[in-house]
Amino acid sequence: MKFNDQTVSIVIGGTSGIGKGVSEALSTRPGTVHVASRSTGLNIQNEQSLAEYFESIGTIDHLIVTAGSAAPSGAINDVAINEAKSAFDIKLWGSIAAAKFAAPHIRAGGSITLTSGFLARRTVPGTFVKTAMNAAIEATAKVMAKEFAPIRINVISPGLTDTNAYAGMDEKARQSMLRNAAENLPAGKVGSVSDLAKGYLFVIDNPFTTGAVIDIDGGALVS
Ligand SMILES: NC(=O)c1ccc[n+]([C@@H]2O[C@H](COP(=O)([O-])OP(=O)(O)OC[C@H]3O[C@@H](n4cnc5c(N)ncnc54)[C@H](OP(=O)(O)O)[C@@H]3O)[C@@H](O)[C@H]2O)c1
Repeated sequence: MKFNDQTVSIVIGGTSGIGKGVSEALSTRPGTVHVASRSTGLNIQNEQSLAEYFESIGTIDHLIVTAGSAAPSGAINDVAINEAKSAFDIKLWGSIAAAKFAAPHIRAGGSITLTSGFLARRTVPGTFVKTAMNAAIEATAKVMAKEFAPIRINVISPGLTDTNAYAGMDEKARQSMLRNAAENLPAGKVGSVSDLAKGYLFVIDNPFTTGAVIDIDGGALVS
């Protein structure tokens, strides 16, 4: 579907990081881009507020969800199940609810793009919450691609990308993590939000792509 002045896109999680990169890329095209997150008053955990939000916007062409980067790390024996559940409530159940409530408003030819992460399919001890949550998003999106057809549903799986998601880390530790990752990834770099945004635009634009998981991870899954 070509973008025109009537095209409406929504990026939930678009106030920061990868979502912000996607909303900036979409903003260079004709049409309207709505950016939403808790700081604009939309909490993806709240079904009622999602339903009202989509109702208030009306017809939509493209929904992109990048919300919810936080998840506890640690071994299965060490992570409190309640903390793991909270992360799922935001990213997994929030993404599913956003897709569910947006779908009735999406115009023919439109799309929904969710976000997982390379740990969905890379086995790293101490990361089981992200692994489980992102794997569940990828699996559910494939079911959605059938149930919500002809709306196209795809997933972008980012690798390590330099965003606010790591803002809470000690600066020295953050720089060292990014440097280490860049040295060890086949691509020789960590991701930028603009590297990622190109993947979202690809699945939004390609009318033959649905039920797909696109890895934009610098080669994390082959290293
Ligand atoms: N960066 C990476 O290395 C990496 C790697 C793999 C996967 N990913 C995935 O990529 C996605 C984007 O990550 P990012 O690095 O861009 O994160 P980020 O910079 O932390 O941005 C996260 C966005 O989600 C919004 N958000 C958080 N909780 C929300 C809620 N309950 N309701 C609505 N919005 C909410 C935040 O805004 P508010 O605070 O205003 O709500 C913010 O706009 C996440 O799903 C993350 O798991 C990232």
